Amino acid sequence: MDGNGRWAKKRFLPRVAGHVKGVELLREMVRACLERGVQYLTLFAFSSENWRRPQDEVTLLMQLFVKALEQEVEKLDRNGVRLRVIGDLAPFEPRLRELISQAEKKTADNTRLDLTIAANYGGRWDITRAVNQMLAAQPEKREAWSESDLESYLSMSFAPEPDLFIRTGGEQRISNFLLWQLAYTELYFTPTLWPDFDTAEFDKAIVSYQQRERRFGRTSEQLIEKPNA
Ligand code: IPE
Ligand code: MG
Repeated sequence: MDGNGRWAKKRFLPRVAGHVKGVELLREMVRACLERGVQYLTLFAFSSENWRRPQDEVTLLMQLFVKALEQEVEKLDRNGVRLRVIGDLAPFEPRLRELISQAEKKTADNTRLDLTIAANYGGRWDITRAVNQMLAAQPEKREAWSESDLESYLSMSFAPEPDLFIRTGGEQRISNFLLWQLAYTELYFTPTLWPDFDTAEFDKAIVSYQQRERRFGRTSEQLIEKPNA
């Protein structure tokens, strides 16, 4: 979700106005996923690098996070949404951590949509942490471990690999998001700023995805002969 600041600047508003609008779009995106039967939506809300922003912007982002949890969890729950937050939550205020853990518990039995917020998240952090946890739990793996050994320790172990990655705001990079999981994901970059990324924009991304051919290393001919092999 990139482009909140630029959206605000274009309107001569403070950056925070862009973040407020950004939360609204988030709501719209959850609704769009529910309507379309999308089962997993994972949003990069705050990267481990975002602490470098001016202190007042960081504080405001945290306040927005708290407010969104206070106001939205009830409705998410009613709509069958399971909420998770991935990332290193240790540096967050106790109040925020408490709200996150309450929200995760409250929605734990929901199955309609898995909504995951990456907060103070970094793909390298995730992989490094997974390796450390695996070796602590299974020291014998020191000698040799496989990709599937590691996968159960990654933050997204509950989900299949993503089909589609969307980055708004014109930048064409992954910025340390789900590095491991994005290996075969279709990438979609759009200049549209996040606060302008509405349902119609989302559908454009889905149509673009539908036109791609996912070969996973195979040839086109193989896919035509045996599409599911
Ligand atoms: C993304 O918008 C939102 C967060 C990182 C929380 P930005 O704040 O990065 O907006 P730009 O890139 O300055 O326009
Ligand atoms: Mg940005």
